[in-house]
Amino acid sequence: MCGIVGYIGNNFAKKVLINGLSNLEYRGYDSAGISLINNNSIHTLKTKGRVKDLIQLSNIDKIDGYCGIAHTRWATHGEPSDKNAHPHNNQNNTFSVVHNGIIENYNELKDFLISKNYKFISETDTEVIPNLIDYYYKEGNDFLHSVYNACKHFKGSYAICVISSFCPDKIIVARKSSPLVLGKGINENFIGSDIPALLEYAKYFYFIKDNEFAEVFKDNIIFYDKDLNKIEKNYKEISIDSSDITKNGYDDYMLKEIYEQPKSINNTLNNLNFETLDFTKEYLNNLKKIYIVACGTAMHAGLVARTLIENLCKINVEVDLASEFRYRNPIIDNHTLAIFISQSGETADTIAALELAKSYGAKTIAVTNVPESSITRIADKVLYTSAGPEIAVASTKAYTSQVALMSYFSIYLAELLDSNNNSLLEELKEDLKNIHDKISKILNSTNLQIKDIAKKIYNEKDIYYIGRGLDYCVALEGALKLKEISYIHAESYASGELKHGAIALIENGTTVVSIVTNPSLIEKSISNIQEVISRGAKTIIITNQHIDNDSFNYIIEIPKTNEYLSPILSVIPLQLLAYHVAKFKNLDVDKPRNLAKSVTVE
Ligand code: M6R
Repeated sequence: MCGIVGYIGNNFAKKVLINGLSNLEYRGYDSAGISLINNNSIHTLKTKGRVKDLIQLSNIDKIDGYCGIAHTRWATHGEPSDKNAHPHNNQNNTFSVVHNGIIENYNELKDFLISKNYKFISETDTEVIPNLIDYYYKEGNDFLHSVYNACKHFKGSYAICVISSFCPDKIIVARKSSPLVLGKGINENFIGSDIPALLEYAKYFYFIKDNEFAEVFKDNIIFYDKDLNKIEKNYKEISIDSSDITKNGYDDYMLKEIYEQPKSINNTLNNLNFETLDFTKEYLNNLKKIYIVACGTAMHAGLVARTLIENLCKINVEVDLASEFRYRNPIIDNHTLAIFISQSGETADTIAALELAKSYGAKTIAVTNVPESSITRIADKVLYTSAGPEIAVASTKAYTSQVALMSYFSIYLAELLDSNNNSLLEELKEDLKNIHDKISKILNSTNLQIKDIAKKIYNEKDIYYIGRGLDYCVALEGALKLKEISYIHAESYASGELKHGAIALIENGTTVVSIVTNPSLIEKSISNIQEVISRGAKTIIITNQHIDNDSFNYIIEIPKTNEYLSPILSVIPLQLLAYHVAKFKNLDVDKPRNLAKSVTVE
């Protein structure tokens, strides 16, 4: 989604801002822009397209300054275009704003401003912000109070950075339900919508909370609470290995992240500490339900966790999409445990669902990959996947780390409950310990075979993914991976459900990918595959079982593990398949069209 960068200091701002925008490219965007203050006036340049288009604008060399703001926009209100790109300025060009989030009541505010003779040139919600600030400034407020008064009117979410030609020595920032961080330097300060934007410039960070404000000067930052009282804030040191945020020799972040999975799973498992949850046997025995709530791939990890928790702990688990959960009046009380999985920790729907569950008295746990992300400040407890920064939009190493974490969590709960299946729990722990080796084996032994298969299927229009039980959960994830980066229509079905409708879609030559890892369901799974073969389907089988390969077009073999852990292995060939198909189609696998890495608006 949209990205923000701001700079004020002793150096020229343009280079820092453009670098920062490049570091934010992974978030997904469709236009870019920059505003700089020079000689007490604001110079703004913006364009539809990429950061590379911005730096090719003819006037870009003519502007610079020591204070500026910049933005990558992911369109919500108004098409991607030059005029809708940020920054947005008031009509006198005295205030310039970059904004992440959505001002839901912008029409009402726009009507008010139009009645006061303000003119608008874009279709965005954001343009009301500089104009409302200007309105309050003209009413006699100073810069800070003008921003503060304007923010009082905004419904929805925002992270904003504002510069003014009246006060060229500071940037004012404010946030509500949209992330914003400040990087501390020496005689310079930085603003970013996330830490990766600023990592090459800062290692000490301040985190702005909801409804807080800050005045950012080159050598000082003053923080304010929601009533504009001054507050003190401590900075935190964040150190991320630079190889974590570069491609490190790989063609794409996605491939690098796929290959990082042995390490990311190991790190995740080694860094876990469930004691911080303060769970007791009595608390667990009194639980009526566990909800697992998330979006996209993170929700698919939740589906795997449901099977493990229900089977190992005999606790009722419901999994829901955050965007549905928050509006369906879920039954929640203080006998509910609600777990929210989010790689970024910034997904707007997941955070809103968490706030809802908390308000009804549920104990809440966030499972996230990003320290200091918004979700970590709201949940009662936090469990971290230690997968390292995930830059590619398509989630890979975060998913397997989430599944590994939730698998270990299920074992932990079962142990606490004395669930009487010690030998199974020991086997699972042993298998988890060795799972990184098996992932390495899959990466080494299947990549070329999968590339070969991808070459044969990359022109397909539709591909189906089927499986039973946990294999169905993986089918859902495999189909999502393929559709998001290759733009091929991919659907997943529970194998047993095919006959109830979807099999009508199978015709001569249709590709069906089947995941077959559950030994107790193997005959049933195979007979479902035979049903699609009888209708002309070409089949790709991912399996750790011994199956007769006469009737199938391709079999991708993966190592055996306990069936409860098979999703961590069987998803790897599906990630590689999606990757290679997208590469054969010459697509940008890291930044697929229309998608954003973290979805910070509803
Ligand atoms: O950061 P989150 O885990 O909350 O993100 C949730 C989804 O937006 C995310 O998993 C999305 O589905 C990915 N693009 C999948 O690859």
